[in-house]
Amino acid sequence: MDMMALIASARQAREAAYAPYSGFLVGAALLTKSGKVYTGCNIENAAMGPGNCAERTAIFKAVSEGEKDFKAIAVMGGARGRAEPMGFCCPCGVCLQVMMEFCEGDFQIIVAASENDYRAYTLEQLLPNGFGPKNLHDGA
Ligand code: THU
Repeated sequence: MDMMALIASARQAREAAYAPYSGFLVGAALLTKSGKVYTGCNIENAAMGPGNCAERTAIFKAVSEGEKDFKAIAVMGGARGRAEPMGFCCPCGVCLQVMMEFCEGDFQIIVAASENDYRAYTLEQLLPNGFGPKNLHDGA
C-alpha cells in the first residue's frame, strides 16, 4: 500500500471525529505488517479527561482484533472548517508511548497536511530512548 492511499484513509477517518470541545478533528490510518488498515478518529468527552486521540483509537481497534504487528500510521489533523493545507499534526506523547508498546523503532509515522504533502518520521526519531516492554523484560 502506498502512502497516498494510507493518508487518504486517515482523511476519511477524520470525517468521524467527535471533537465538540476542541473543534480539532483528527484521523489516523494504521497499516499492519499483513497489509490491513485500521482507522481511528479522536473522541472527546464532556468530562474532558476520558477523550481518546485518533492514533490510539486506531491502535486499540487493531489490538482488540488480534493485530499487534504494525508497519506505519498516517495522521491528518486540523481545526474544523479550516481551509487546506491542514498543517502537520504530530502524535502526542501518550500516543507515542502506546506505539512504543507494540512497534519497533523503524515504525513509520506519516504526518500529513495532504496526500502530497507529508512528513515521514520513525518512532525512534519522535521518541528516542523511549521506555518500553524491553526495559521491563531485560531489567534495563
Ligand atoms: N489529537 C489527536 O487525536 N491526535 C493528535 O495527534 C493530537 C491531538 C486530538 C485530541 C483532542 O481531541 C484534539 O485533538 C485536540 O487536542
